[in-house]
Amino acid sequence: MAEALRVGIAGLGTVGASVARVLRDKAAELTRQCGRDIVVSAVSARDPKRDRGVDLNAAKWFDDPVKMAQAAEIDVFVELIGGDEGPAFAAVKTALEAGRHVVTANKALLAKHGVALAEIAEKKGVLLNYEAAVAGGIPVIKTMREAMAGNSVTRVFGILNGTCNYILTRMEAEGISFDACLKDAQRLGYAEADPTFDIEGHDTAHKLSILTSLAFGTKIAANDIYMEGISNITQADIRAAGDLGYRIKLLGVAQRTDSGIEQRVHPTMVPTASVIAQVHGVINAVAIETDILGELLLSGPGAGGNATASAVIGDIADIAKSRPGFQHGPVFGRPARELKPYKKAQMRSHAGGYFIRLTVHDRIGVFAAIAKRMADNDISLESIVQHAISGEAAAQKTVILVTHETTEAAVRKAVDGITKDGHLTDKPQVIRIERAG
Ligand SMILES: NC(=O)c1ccc[n+]([C@@H]2O[C@H](COP(=O)([O-])OP(=O)(O)OC[C@H]3O[C@@H](n4cnc5c(N)ncnc54)[C@H](OP(=O)(O)O)[C@@H]3O)[C@@H](O)[C@H]2O)c1
Repeated sequence: MAEALRVGIAGLGTVGASVARVLRDKAAELTRQCGRDIVVSAVSARDPKRDRGVDLNAAKWFDDPVKMAQAAEIDVFVELIGGDEGPAFAAVKTALEAGRHVVTANKALLAKHGVALAEIAEKKGVLLNYEAAVAGGIPVIKTMREAMAGNSVTRVFGILNGTCNYILTRMEAEGISFDACLKDAQRLGYAEADPTFDIEGHDTAHKLSILTSLAFGTKIAANDIYMEGISNITQADIRAAGDLGYRIKLLGVAQRTDSGIEQRVHPTMVPTASVIAQVHGVINAVAIETDILGELLLSGPGAGGNATASAVIGDIADIAKSRPGFQHGPVFGRPARELKPYKKAQMRSHAGGYFIRLTVHDRIGVFAAIAKRMADNDISLESIVQHAISGEAAAQKTVILVTHETTEAAVRKAVDGITKDGHLTDKPQVIRIERAG
């Protein structure tokens, strides 16, 4: 049998400790599958005394992950620390430069330094595997990088943040407000104490930037993503969406258009009957549309110790199965040096349907004025509905418009016009509608 593959794990938190436990519990099965043993030969974390729920005494302890990254004791450096700079970046770069394979779950790191790190890995002839960095346990990287060779991707979109999907699912199912739902999610451990990163779309954007590169062969452009979070989604939106046959999801969407590539993260209405609308709670999903395959949807657990460990271990097993001297496939599906510059499509040229919810004074002429603003901007309406508001706001009405395909620029101009007309009593709400099968 080939020599054991020696793994150094940096970071022994939720994911790192799970990886160590599964490698121990599934050792015999992994040896059968890979044709060699996989052993944890080194570990690094901040606190050497903390109980990790797994005996790591046989592994050499390193206070400094950068030292471990170049240590003679390891063949693979597994980075599970997190963060786009600091010890995670320094250690991954060091490991690649020292000719060690790297496995990471760190989307923030890849969103910022992925292309530069891929160049080092490809120059050194080692693997940089990152299945767990996008949608946790869902094998989307492998699917896009290996199983879809020859396909040209036209659009990739997904539910990439479990916290947001959990909140939106409960808001719809239980009729509770965003704030109440977020508090509950924090109490149950589904949301961080500072939830901004998740709910404002940054986490989704990091993952989307990696998918975009794989889909279109472009350099990662995480700073060029249009982003809106879910914190201003109200019960009124969720109810109106339901009445119209839609469900609201926070989607990350990357799409090829005539003017470039759109990368956008925002609350989105998807038809209630579509498959992605059935993805509830903390579950993630990624839809990939290509010329040959059509539309593929993968869904499953996007986070959590074991689910994420499953992807990390799949990456380690691939390294265990690879043979010395074998040329590895490029990190982002095409050689890093050949990734094309990202050509950004302007958001105002985005074409699609729109949901617009307006709260207006209940007076004569308002409805006609709204319809005129729409017509002036060549926006054709699929439906326009008005509801009286009862109670204290009795002098107000809700007007809900659903447009046929139009452009972002036209919708923004029309809504600005309506706002200037002075008929609104509250901020207008605009939610994009996404085609989904
Ligand atoms: N949690 C998930 O469900 C999930 C899902 C997908 C991807 N990921 C990604 O996986 C990575 C790890 O996430 P996690 O949830 O496991 O994080 P975590 O629970 O906070 O664990 C982080 C670990 O890094 C260690 N660490 C921090 N600074 C260090 C340093 N300077 N040197 C050595 N070790 C250091 C910590 O040590 P101590 O324990 O001693 O403090 C801890 O063990 C992140 O990139 C995250 O984005 C996580």
